[in-house]
Amino acid sequence: MKMDIERLARPEIVAMKAYASARSSAAADGILLNANEAPYTHVADPEWQRLALNRYPQPQPALLRTRLAELYGVGEDKLLMTRGSDEGIDLLTRVFCRPGQDAVAECSPCFGMYRIAATIQGARVIDVPRQAGKGFQIDFEQLEKVISEAPDVRLVFLTSPNNPTGDLISRAQLEAVLAATGERALVVLDEAYIEFCDAASAIELLGKWPQLVVLRTLSKAWAAAGVRCGIVVADPAVIGLLQRVIAPYPLSAMAIDAALAAISAASAERQRRFVAAVRQGRADLYRFLEQCDFVRQAWQGEANFILVRVADGSGLVNWCAARGIRIRDFGSYAGLAGCVRLTIGSPAELAALKSALTAYGEQP
Ligand SMILES: Cc1ncc(COP(=O)(O)O)c(C=O)c1O
Repeated sequence: MKMDIERLARPEIVAMKAYASARSSAAADGILLNANEAPYTHVADPEWQRLALNRYPQPQPALLRTRLAELYGVGEDKLLMTRGSDEGIDLLTRVFCRPGQDAVAECSPCFGMYRIAATIQGARVIDVPRQAGKGFQIDFEQLEKVISEAPDVRLVFLTSPNNPTGDLISRAQLEAVLAATGERALVVLDEAYIEFCDAASAIELLGKWPQLVVLRTLSKAWAAAGVRCGIVVADPAVIGLLQRVIAPYPLSAMAIDAALAAISAASAERQRRFVAAVRQGRADLYRFLEQCDFVRQAWQGEANFILVRVADGSGLVNWCAARGIRIRDFGSYAGLAGCVRLTIGSPAELAALKSALTAYGEQP
């Protein structure tokens, strides 16, 4: 399907002449006197010398892009590397939402940054709440109604597996939303946790649906949250528009180096073992929670966490904090009264969590 993506973008971004940085407009070889850099670094340590800290890095590092394209099975022209998915969400909102006019749609409870990015941009947030009584299933009928009736919706944010409920969106459900959206908006599918489940990535649907944008990250299964590397995977027309807005050098030399190490062949082997361990830990913790009298409900989900409802979520958070264990309170989110989210940590961390929970349950 061919689609005019630019028609959805803010006209001033389309009309703007994008900034051309020194590194994006000339090769980085020969005598480099075009970027007002220092000719050498002051850091003597050879490990740092290797990174050429005195030079601006490549705006979209070629080797990392090639590796990520291999990893995701997609053309390099469909990738944009960003400072975490957080930046991808921000760029999409800034490019596609006119302040005071356009809107984004989300299905709460969901990741909080969609709303924050929209609010910063002055875009309205249309929430289609998930159905608490039905395992937090998305109300697809209502979502499709919102998309077809609100002409100002530019971005539909979906998450699979979702944070904090852990549920997946099926291929059929996703394609139904894409069909209902047509050329009116982009459908942004955030797959931050996809490696933890068996479901295939929607990246393979990009050729069929140019309005689909997939967000991936190295922060979760790749165990590299500190690197700050997220990836927008989308039609080259979407990537080109985002590139007009992204900072000239978003990834530092250290981040590029670390991202390459994080997805190297050796790390990939460890990643497979880690994902298996998380899934095992998740199943074990879920079984344990089912036996806790104070647990009212637990959602095992398909990611690296479990959502749990208890009578007093904040009390449980404080109880764990007093024992040096931090868990996340979701009680203030609509529909999540008494809910806390437990990340699947290492076996030792989970053992500590279980003993804190056991002691909590044994209180008089
Ligand atoms: C659904 C979802 N998307 C994106 C992010 C942010 O990822 P990144 O670290 O790549 O910015 C998170 C972080 O928790 C998340 O839960």
